[in-house]
Amino acid sequence: MSRALNSVPRHVGIIMDGNGRWAKKRLMPRSYGHNAGMKAMIKISERAAERGIEYLTVYALSTENIISRPADELEGLYNLLRKYFGENAQKLCAEGSAIKIIGDLSALPPDVEELLKKGEANSPENARFTLVFAINYGSRSEIARAANLAAAKGGITEESLENELYTAGIPAPDLIIRTGGEMRLSNFLLYQAAYAELYFTKVLFPDFTPAHFDKAIEEYMSRERRYGGSR
Ligand code: FPP
Repeated sequence: MSRALNSVPRHVGIIMDGNGRWAKKRLMPRSYGHNAGMKAMIKISERAAERGIEYLTVYALSTENIISRPADELEGLYNLLRKYFGENAQKLCAEGSAIKIIGDLSALPPDVEELLKKGEANSPENARFTLVFAINYGSRSEIARAANLAAAKGGITEESLENELYTAGIPAPDLIIRTGGEMRLSNFLLYQAAYAELYFTKVLFPDFTPAHFDKAIEEYMSRERRYGGSR
């Protein structure tokens, strides 16, 4: 008997890796790669919205990146955030999509923090598409924070913990894509990814086109999801 295909995923996460190597191949600074990565991210988010995906979570900056990347690279990333939230995010929201930020914004420069919060606050309600930015995000600290909050409110259950995660109210990711050839999750949505399908590609993120994204979605749709059940 033929098996039904999965429908389009509701929530896709992307670990946008490979910007630095993409720039290095061109003898350019890493910031050049991040700039190209931002352009790729904008195209992928448009494609995701077109396909009826409800949530796209992009790993823009991990907690570890903030600790370990040189100051000039971080400043370049902050400038990209200033640019994105100054222009593109407003356009996205004007077109009816929403922005959500997950992570600890308090470590960011105050103007960037304010811009991100404003972008989130200006988002329409009941948007059909939400672009979720993981910024200064790390799953372990997210889980520890949520556990403390849930315990203070009366106890830790799966439900009370989930209610305190940054992603409360967002369905768990169905599919997580990682570009750039590494095969790991790097502290991204670890709790939420319990039943996510994983898709790894060697394509460096700036080269990751909507056609590559479509290929990942088609592969996801052809996979069998059992959630611990039997065949
Ligand atoms: C990992 O590549 C990527 C990042 C640390 C940053 C990802 C950010 C973007 C794609 C831009 C996002 C958009 C905004 C608005 C900030 P890497 O530098 O670790 O690459 P490498 O593994 O080749 O060194």
